[in-house]
Amino acid sequence: MADLQRFTYFAHFISKRFEAPRVFDVAGGMGKLNVELTTLGHHVTTFDKRHKHLPVPYAQREFTLGEPCEADIVVGMHPDGATRVIIEYAAHHRLPFAVVPCCSDNSMSYKQWMRFLGEYATSLGFTEVAEDLLPMRGRARILFGRF
Ligand SMILES: C[S@@+](CC[C@H](N)C(=O)[O-])C[C@H]1O[C@@H](n2cnc3c(N)ncnc32)[C@H](O)[C@@H]1O
Repeated sequence: MADLQRFTYFAHFISKRFEAPRVFDVAGGMGKLNVELTTLGHHVTTFDKRHKHLPVPYAQREFTLGEPCEADIVVGMHPDGATRVIIEYAAHHRLPFAVVPCCSDNSMSYKQWMRFLGEYATSLGFTEVAEDLLPMRGRARILFGRF
């Protein structure tokens, strides 16, 4: 069961660790991370395919590599099938990324998926690839990278 505080914890992590006024929140679901980051002074666009969401800047579509770059960081909380594209997009635009992975897109176990994503980010040229942990139950490991 995912922790309901996860958006608050992740927003504070992003805000403290990165100089990033503009945030792309990918696979953002209802837009709760958007709300938390906005409270902390960021300008956030959430991408997701859902119809139902909070009244936040929301691009109701699949996030792809073709999206024009108007962000200083790309992030995703439990982004499932969008995890890989977040890292690829950040690498392409030489932006930092931060994800809290959950389910893999290729049937790997959580442990394998975390290792795979870290190695994948390194292979895409990020100079720093590291992990941290949110103070919550459930899938709480953060993978982040920057140039
Ligand atoms: C497990 S939910 C997490 C939602 C939210 N971040 C949360 O923590 O509650 C995964 C979300 O990823 C979205 N998603 C998957 N691939 C996507 C993509 N390429 N672009 C945008 N959203 C995507 C799904 O629509 C779904 O809302």
